[in-house]
Amino acid sequence: MKHADRKRLLTWYDQHKRRLPWRSGCDPYAVWVSEIMLQQTQIATALPYFTRWMDRFPTVQSLGQASENDVLQCWQGLGYYGRCRTMLETARHIVASGFPESKEAWQALPGVGPYTSGAIASITLGQRCAAVDGNVERVFARLTACESSGGLMTRAAWKWAESVADFDRPGDWNQALMELGALICTPRQAKCAHCPVARSCVAKMSGRVSEFPRPKPKPPIEDLSQLVWVPYHEGRFGLRQIVEGRWWRGMWEFPREPSNEIGTIALRNSIGKCGLHHLGQLRHTVTHHRITLEAYVALTERRSPNLVWFPPQELSTLPMPAPQRRIFDLARRSLDVLLRGSS
Ligand code: ADE
Repeated sequence: MKHADRKRLLTWYDQHKRRLPWRSGCDPYAVWVSEIMLQQTQIATALPYFTRWMDRFPTVQSLGQASENDVLQCWQGLGYYGRCRTMLETARHIVASGFPESKEAWQALPGVGPYTSGAIASITLGQRCAAVDGNVERVFARLTACESSGGLMTRAAWKWAESVADFDRPGDWNQALMELGALICTPRQAKCAHCPVARSCVAKMSGRVSEFPRPKPKPPIEDLSQLVWVPYHEGRFGLRQIVEGRWWRGMWEFPREPSNEIGTIALRNSIGKCGLHHLGQLRHTVTHHRITLEAYVALTERRSPNLVWFPPQELSTLPMPAPQRRIFDLARRSLDVLLRGSS
């Protein structure tokens, strides 16, 4: 990239960058937390979580002393909960050993990949290194009219970003590329008229901005149907802690089984002869799965020892996946009506 373009991009960044709380200084803890939160989450969604997190755990020491339940509760709703558990583990390591002092040392920590280590090291240590996220990939694909897609394009973007990394202001440079992707070189309807580097953009100059990045072939979405029932017995709700599986490990949920014969038998066995009331159907999507949840409230005869039984006010403090929390709200409303009717 030409010197004049580099200067224009940095000047544009200085004038137009969003004032984000983690940009106010070079606190490695704040930058680390923000980068982990932003790994699979939009800035607008992550912002209130970041503020709440920093109020609750203002230093790496305070995070290191927290329990898994505390951190999961603060993270609840952000998704990809593995990030949060790993942060707790990493915080304890940092308390014992200090903050890493290079991109390579950051990358040796769990949950910190090439992007995150590049972002943290360039921003907080001033190390000249690249940090390629989805925004930077798009900027690269358009600036160079890159014909590759998927992993090949990602590799090409890293090579390019490493070659253009800045010597004087590496953190600002990386953030300027990200900010350009977020504010100007947007996925749809790029605002090329306001782009500080439009004149050296190959896609723009050939009138093909909307053709880049080339789309990568998508894996098919799989449909899953599940039964969820809210066991209720004399003021308490039965839940289990999620131990296995990829999603939501460590959080709490009502019993959930595949919507097939085995799941239906599990549901019947758990409620005995007691009342089962249909709450409705909920849909949500997790990675490549579109999940339909058929939700019930089950007035059980006894408290099954396979579950942990919580009164509603205690349940409100448990970390729960968002769809389960919605089912709990439906169940409470339904129980209000059902129990009023029977009293
Ligand atoms: N996305 C993730 N980290 C970012 C940062 N520091 N600036 C802009 N966008 C980002």
